[in-house]
Order: sequence, then C-alpha cells, then structure tokens
Amino acid sequence: MGYKIKIEASVACADFRNLEKDIRELEACKIDFLHIDIMDGFFVPNFALNFSIMKTLQEMTSIPMECHLMVDKPERYIEIAAKSGAEYISIHAEATNHIQRVLSQIHETGVKSGIALNPATPINVLDYILGDLDMIVVMTVNPGFAGQPLIPATLKKIEEIRNLIDSKGFGKIEIQVDGNVSIENIPKMIKCGATMLVGGTSSVFRKGYTIPDSVRTIKVLIKQNQ
Ligand code: DX5
Ligand code: ZN
Repeated sequence: MGYKIKIEASVACADFRNLEKDIRELEACKIDFLHIDIMDGFFVPNFALNFSIMKTLQEMTSIPMECHLMVDKPERYIEIAAKSGAEYISIHAEATNHIQRVLSQIHETGVKSGIALNPATPINVLDYILGDLDMIVVMTVNPGFAGQPLIPATLKKIEEIRNLIDSKGFGKIEIQVDGNVSIENIPKMIKCGATMLVGGTSSVFRKGYTIPDSVRTIKVLIKQNQ
C-alpha cells in the first residue's frame, strides 16, 4: 500500500476533568494529530469544542491540530480556525453553496483543506474538486455524537474513494475516517484505504484502558493490516 497511516485523538472525547494529563499522554504516545470537533447546534444537533479551546491547546502542546467544522456556512470561520492553529480545516459538503470557493479560502490562509462526507452523501461531489483537496473525511457515523455504531455502507465508500483518487492520480489526498474508529473497525478501515484514523470513545479514549495502552494496540493493528 505504501501510505503512512496517522493516528488522531478526538479531543471532544478526552477527560475534561484533567485535560492536561490526557494531552501529555498523547504527546508521549507520539499521536499524529489532535482532531478538533467544532459544532454549531444547527448543522449538527449538538455543540462540542470551540476556537478558544483550540487556541489554548495550541499554547499547551506542539501536537498538530486539524479542525473539523460541522457548521453551516463554514466560510465564516476559516480565518479564526487558521489563527487558532489548524493544520487542516475540513468543511461539510452540504454546509455551503460554494464548496470550491471555501476550499480555496482555506488554502489562502495557508492551511490544508478537507471535505467531509456524511454517510448518505454520494462521492460524486468529489468529481470536480480533487485538485482542491488535501483530505477527504469519510463520516462513518452521522456527525454530532460520540459513541455511535459504524454505518456499514460507509466502508464501501472508503474503498470507492480510494479507487477514485488512485485512478485519477490524486493518491496523495488523505482519507480520514471519523466515527466509531474502534479496535474492531480499524483493520477494515485500513484495508479499504483510510490513512487518518480519528480515535474517540471506541479506541484512543476507550473505557477501561489507558491512552498509552489503546494507542499501542492501534499501532499494532496498523502494522498488521497495512
Ligand atoms: C464526530 C466526532 C466523533 C468522535 C467520536 O465528528 O469526531 O465521531 O470521533 O468517536 P467515537 O465514535 O469513537 O465515539
Ligand atoms: Zn470529527
């Protein structure tokens, strides 16, 4: 395969009673990215992190951050997301009438761009924007809540996207999976072609295991399935 698979920690799933402890453990595990969920209570029916938390994290740690904007009209928040330390900003396909313009806006701020596809969103939305993308986010659950089960049809979607980008010469675009990226699902996701694994309550922060134990297990799964 030859892709470097990255492990990410979904900060919204961290222990907020002692966030610093979790961050230091993630540093020690050499996690690749912090995944920052921003919700607006409208595009998705919930709220999560915000830009001031992101800014605080930027001051606390040198782990790279990527920002998942689950908000309507994300064009309003590109600049603040960039200023808050995002290395990638991803927007949802249905959240704006002007996808290509927003992807350009992200690049103009010097940040890498991503498009997120909800479970029911078809992949033909990618057809004319492959050249504008650094990452495709395959939502493997409906966005908005942690702890949901994987929607099986989304595994096929990962595979279809892998085939599409490889066949068109865009194989360097990252394929991120977000939602129930569990110890059980990770091998399947890797086999389908995912390169960025967002670990939440079902892996990096799973109950009954420490962060170092979970990350160690994920690293073994990556080695075995790559
Ligand atoms: C939504 C979030 C969650 C998060 C939760 O965008 O980013 O899906 O990963 O992880 P799980 O699904 O493992 O609780
Ligand atoms: Zn997310």
